[in-house]
This record gives sequence, structure tokens and C-alpha cells, in this order.
Amino acid sequence: MRSQLALQLLLPVSIWGFDTGPHNDMTRNVLENFGYSKSAQDVISVANWFTDVYAFAPNFGNKVGVLPNHILPLEEMHCNNLYNIVYGVNYASQHVLNTRNAVRDAASRGDTLAFMALMGTSVHLYQDFYAHSNWAELQLTHDCDCYLVDRTLFSHLKVANGSLDAMLDANPQLNAYTTYQWKGPEDPYFNIFPGTLQHGDYCNGINHDSAVRPNFEEAYAWAYGATTEWIANVERWAREVNPNIVENAKAWQPADDTQRTQLQDNQNHAFEVSYSTTAWIFGEDNGHWKGSGSGDLTTFAASTAKFSSSNTFLTNLYTGSNPVWYLLSEPSPYRFLNDSRDPQSGDVLPDQQTISQATSYFTPLSSLPSNYTDVKAIVLRTTEFNISSSYEGLISRPNPYAVVEFDGWRTREAPMHGQRYLKPWWTSIRFYPSSARGVNIVYTLMDTAASNSQGKQINITSGEGKLRFTLNTEDNTLTGGVTGVHNTTDSIATVTAPDGTSLKFFVDTRQFICSNSMDANELRVSFCKNTAYGELGVFSDCEGSRQVWDHSAAVRAGVRVGMLVLVGLVGLVLIV
Ligand SMILES: *[C@@H]1O[C@H](CO)[C@@H](O)[C@H](O)[C@H]1NC(C)=O
Ligand SMILES: *[C@@H]1O[C@H](CO)[C@@H](O)[C@H](O)[C@H]1NC(C)=O
Ligand SMILES: *[C@@H]1O[C@H](CO)[C@@H](O)[C@H](O)[C@H]1NC(C)=O
Ligand SMILES: *[C@@H]1O[C@H](CO)[C@@H](O)[C@H](O)[C@H]1NC(C)=O
Ligand SMILES: *[C@@H]1O[C@H](CO)[C@@H](O)[C@H](O)[C@H]1NC(C)=O
Ligand SMILES: *[C@@H]1O[C@H](CO)[C@@H](O)[C@H](O)[C@H]1NC(C)=O
Repeated sequence: MRSQLALQLLLPVSIWGFDTGPHNDMTRNVLENFGYSKSAQDVISVANWFTDVYAFAPNFGNKVGVLPNHILPLEEMHCNNLYNIVYGVNYASQHVLNTRNAVRDAASRGDTLAFMALMGTSVHLYQDFYAHSNWAELQLTHDCDCYLVDRTLFSHLKVANGSLDAMLDANPQLNAYTTYQWKGPEDPYFNIFPGTLQHGDYCNGINHDSAVRPNFEEAYAWAYGATTEWIANVERWAREVNPNIVENAKAWQPADDTQRTQLQDNQNHAFEVSYSTTAWIFGEDNGHWKGSGSGDLTTFAASTAKFSSSNTFLTNLYTGSNPVWYLLSEPSPYRFLNDSRDPQSGDVLPDQQTISQATSYFTPLSSLPSNYTDVKAIVLRTTEFNISSSYEGLISRPNPYAVVEFDGWRTREAPMHGQRYLKPWWTSIRFYPSSARGVNIVYTLMDTAASNSQGKQINITSGEGKLRFTLNTEDNTLTGGVTGVHNTTDSIATVTAPDGTSLKFFVDTRQFICSNSMDANELRVSFCKNTAYGELGVFSDCEGSRQVWDHSAAVRAGVRVGMLVLVGLVGLVLIV
């Protein structure tokens, strides 16, 4: 007990309030639709994760590399402490100028790898603008078969010819924009400080980027649109100085087997380090890949040790002496806190010059060719798993997770620590061009089996153990390993393996943009039966998370074992 106390004193309480899995998925999804190789998708999504992990990695006084060193400028790239729309627009506009500058620099040097890393890191901030704010609540939804993603921030600004005031006159609801707030507008904008409720967790706060949070799907759709918009602009800025760089990035492959292995390792670190974070380490939730319930300190210790010692061609881009992110951080996106204030009142004012310039460089989502936005989401929602007792000798404590492949494009759900039976919140989403018809889906139930490993398969069908089926996106019919229409909580599909292991889920499709806009008198739909957590009805805070919190005793037992492993690994000399 004494050693646990000592360790806690050394660790900054986390700020890791947000899940990393949705960032990873939406980034790779947009790139897949844009025609980037799977390896390029991995580079860019790992760079996206670095923006999180280096931003708040706790270290033991710089002496023990449990996690890599904290990089302060990356901590500034998460839309923290944007107290109102003026802060938000100043901040996002500076980020546009910085990103354009950085991307043009990499493109002019023909540095494809740096270009991809900049894409991954810069889009992270822009995803946060929508996913970690009340943006989704400021928009209205009226139809469960589509998301009402119409105008992004820069679409509004473009219409207003770059004038923030004109934008707010036309869209007064945007005055209410805010991200999470730490203390008050005069306090530092960083979020490394312990002791206050910051990003929120799975029960409260402003974050939306976990399926257990209200309005998750709306925020995800907005951030998907933002990712599409951002990457289209980054590509254009790069092409202006180097016509080949985008095609080179799309075709990118590792130079050799070493690079290939390093890339896979870093992608797996993103998954493992994120899912295994625990409440004990971070003072918040058990797991930060996709929702609560995956925390496992043994895995955390092993995977962070591996990550921090990995020294790959990608980590070197971030931690070396000439870091790839440097131009993104110059000047600070928070520059307006010093440079754009009313001299009398001290209020932050629109930095109109920066905003106008950023708007002039930006092509908003609404102006992109229709093939960029004519997409629809395929949403596969797993509602239950029940693993047969025949696995008892094979897996002592199951940590099952879903691997869902949509035409070979893969998404991983969070391992549910110590659960043989659960109603998880696994919500696997892939956006497709609307013209897609038959989508081939492969569902594999996996178990982490041992800490820090990709684990073994839990068979959900006879034969190869995976479930294969095809979704007809026009009428929602499934054929193959499961048949019929299963697109709401009222029409769930069940598959059962010969040993009794069973899985329940439904699959639905939703258009990205509603074909008819909403008029002011129309009622907002507050609850869609076919969306993430639809079976819970309207929920406002913690109902999603509570489903696994009841099992937290098992997690606590795991923590004690894991703590000893962690202590052993870092060789910490504890306070005696
Ligand atoms: C959209 O269509 C244009 C013109 O055919 C093409 O160059 C571009 O790659 C397409 N983009 C996407 C995301 O499909
Ligand atoms: C748009 O703003 C620019 C300055 O940023 C100005 O020169 C131009 O006249 C404006 N156009 C319209 C139509 O208001
Ligand atoms: C604001 O100015 C102070 C004093 O020059 C400086 O230390 C700080 O880094 C500046 N902050 C930002 C966000 O530019
Ligand atoms: C799962 O299926 C695979 C492929 O048929 C098989 O090799 C494996 O032994 C099965 N596992 C269990 C635990 O039955
Ligand atoms: C489910 O699919 C059927 C058949 O295509 C369709 O009529 C129905 O509207 C769908 N329901 C939802 C909630 O999407
Ligand atoms: C899980 O499946 C077994 C049969 O394989 C069944 O006896 C048990 O009741 C199921 N558990 C739950 C919670 O439904």
C-alpha cells in the first residue's frame, strides 16, 4: 500500500480525458476513401495518436522512461480552454496558417514522410474542435437515417466572407460554442495540471469521442466531415508547391521490413497503451481506446515500456532535435491570448486579420466536389457477447474485443477486461461512398489472452470461427453467415458457435448529410433506436459507462497485480 501511495505522488493526474480510437478510425477511414495505401493510413493515424500521447505522457521525473517525454507544444493542440466562439475561431484560424506553412515547407523539400506526419498531427486538433466541444449540440437533428452535417466552421466563415461578426449575426447559436474549461480564462491554457475536473470523463464533461457519451454519433459524423475537409485542404496546400507529393503519400510503402515492423508496432502501441490505461494511473477511467472497461495495468506497464523504448522512424520524427511538428506550433495557436485583447476590458477580441487570411486559404466542406460528401455510414453495433465455458482452460480471464473488417479496412473495439458476458458499447463505423452497394464484412472476436499481445481468436462460427456476411446498403439486407434485415435494437442478429459462444449485433446505414435541411419549427429527434446506445433510450450522462462499472472489482484485482509488474519494470526506487 505504501508503494502505491508513493507512485501516485510521482504521477501527474491525467488529463487523458478523451478516447484515441475514434481519432484513429476516422482518420484512416477518410484516407481509405481518398485512396491512401494502408501503410500511409497507419503512418498518419499513428502521427495523430502521437499528438495525444506525447502531449501528456507522465514520466517519472525524466529519469525513468515509462512513457516518452512530454512535448509541451503538442499539449497545445487539443482545443483546450476555448471559452467561447471568439477563442475558438482565433485558435482554429492560427492553426490553419501554421499548418499551411508547415505543409508547404515539407512539400517544397519533397519530404513525404514529414508531410504525412503533419497531416496526422494537424488534423487531430481540427477533429477536437468538433468532438470536444458542444458543436454537435448547437446543430439540430430531425431524422434517424442521416446526420445533419452541413456547415463546418469554415463553411460558415466562407459565407460570411471571413468576418466573425457577420458569421455570428447569421448564426447566433454559434455564440454558445465552448470546449471544456479549466479554472478560468485567465488561467493557463494547458491541461497538465492535476486536481480539477477537466475534459470530463465518461460520466460528465464536454467530450463526445466515446460511444458511451451522449451524441457520440453526431459528434463522430461532424469530426469525420472535419477530417475530410482538413485533409482535402492539406492536400491542396501541398500540391501548390509540389505536384507529386500527394500521390507519393498515397502510394507510400515502408522502405524495408524493419520499417514495416516498426510501423505495425507503433500502431499496436496506439491500441494497447490507450485501451490499457487505468483509473489508477490516470485518475479517471479504465481505458481510453473506446469507452470504459478496458483498463489493465499489467498490459499498460508492458505496452508503455515497449512504446517508450521503441525508437522507430516515426517516434524519431517527434522526439528528435528537428521535430516534424515545429512549424505547427509557431506561433502558438493561443497567440491571441496575448495579441488580441481589448485594452480596456481585457476581453479576447476576434483576430480578424488571421481569421480572414485563414478563411481565404480554406476550401470548406460545402464547396468540395460532391464525391467528398456523398457518403454514408455503415454502423455495426455489437449489443452482447457470451463466451462459452469451453474457453475456461484456454483463457483464464477473458478480455474480448471485436475486430470488424469492412472490405478489408479494419477497426478494433476496446477489450472488455475480465468479461465473459457483457452488453458492450462496441460501435464500429465506416463511411463509404454512397454508390457502394455490397459491403463485405468480416467479424472476428478476439481475446487479448495475455497482456500486451494481439491475442487469440474466440470462435463465433463453426469452421474458421469468423463471421462473414455481405450488407446490401440499399435495403439493409444481410446475406452469408447471417441473413435478413437486422438494423435496429428491435431486430438484432444472433450468431451462436457450436460450443454455445454467442454474439448479438445489428447493422444499419446512415447518410452523412440529410437531403432536406431542418426548419426552425421542426422537432429535434432526441433518441434514435438505431444509433449507438439506442437501446438505452435518451441518456444524459453515465448510463453507458455504468454497464461495466459494476465489474470494477475484477479490474481492481488486476490493478494490484499490474502495479507490481509496473514497479518491477521501471525499477523505481520507492520512497522508503
Ligand atoms: C472526387 O472526384 C475527383 C474527380 O473525379 C477525384 O479527383 C477525387 O480523387 C475524388 N475524391 C474522392 C474523395 O473520392
Ligand atoms: C470580403 O472581404 C475582403 C477582405 O477580407 C474584402 O476585400 C472584400 O471586399 C469582401 N467581399 C465582400 C463581398 O464583402
Ligand atoms: C504570452 O506572452 C508571454 C510573455 O511574453 C509569453 O511568456 C507567453 O508564452 C505568451 N503566450 C502565448 C500563448 O503566446
Ligand atoms: C477456432 O477455430 C479455428 C479454425 O477452425 C481452430 O483452429 C481453433 O482450434 C478453434 N478454437 C477453439 C478454441 O475451438
Ligand atoms: C431498416 O431497414 C428497413 C429495410 O430496408 C427500412 O425499411 C427501415 O427504415 C430501416 N430502419 C431503420 C431504423 O433504419
Ligand atoms: C451465456 O451462455 C450460457 C450458455 O452457453 C448460458 O447458460 C448463460 O445463461 C448465458 N449468460 C447470460 C448472462 O445470458
